[in-house]
Amino acid sequence: MFSELVIKFMPDDNDGSILDLACGTGSLAINLAKNGYDVTGIDMSSEMIEIAKLKKNSLRGVRFELANMLNPNLDKRFSVVTCAFDSVNYLLNESDLKKMFSSAYKHLNPKGRFIFDFNTEKAYKNNNNFEIRRILPGGYYDHKMQYDTNTNLAHTSFEFYDGQWELHIQKPYEHQQVVEILEEVGFEILFSFKNFKGEPVKKESDRIFIVAEKPGIGIKKNMVKY
Ligand SMILES: C[S@@+](CC[C@H](N)C(=O)[O-])C[C@H]1O[C@@H](n2cnc3c(N)ncnc32)[C@H](O)[C@@H]1O
Repeated sequence: MFSELVIKFMPDDNDGSILDLACGTGSLAINLAKNGYDVTGIDMSSEMIEIAKLKKNSLRGVRFELANMLNPNLDKRFSVVTCAFDSVNYLLNESDLKKMFSSAYKHLNPKGRFIFDFNTEKAYKNNNNFEIRRILPGGYYDHKMQYDTNTNLAHTSFEFYDGQWELHIQKPYEHQQVVEILEEVGFEILFSFKNFKGEPVKKESDRIFIVAEKPGIGIKKNMVKY
């Protein structure tokens, strides 16, 4: 579970504050708040934010705001920033990736940690032309994914029985590419791994998790990787 990962990698010296970028319907933020953390979730979809607010109900320690993760300007710093479940892949070019990493950096306390995951090209190539009908109470939806190797974009569609339709466009990123952009922004990479068990990233990894740290004031840490 992503929340367990966040709790495991919380910096020792933290004030319990977490910013969840692209929070969707708020599952991760709500889980973390239930574990006693003070969480702010942002998403650029008003529908997602409305559902997150309904799910939160009267739970304290969590709030949701409509904002773009490229420039959220929250006027507050956090011990941890998260961006979970391939939300990073919704950014369709390196320039936006760098903007988002910079906004995560800006919103972290010194020694704060940025914890996120992303899909590599393997994830989309392995599942190219994926198609499944999923049954819902009282209906169904067709879930399809196609990966275009010319544009390097994955198109995932959800077509509901009542005619409603959603299209998600994602771009894969590779480990070294992401590490380089994080380092350009000023982060130190503490850990990279390929699954919730913490196994090392391999060439064929389809998903990668990263824990990066904003350096403390005036302190240069040695890099530790696994
Ligand atoms: C895979 S879903 C959300 C996953 C969510 N983090 C979770 O754990 O359930 C991706 C989300 O990214 C949001 N999103 C995509 N681009 C965004 C951006 N530039 N700023 C904020 N949210 C964004 C979408 O609205 C969507 O809710």
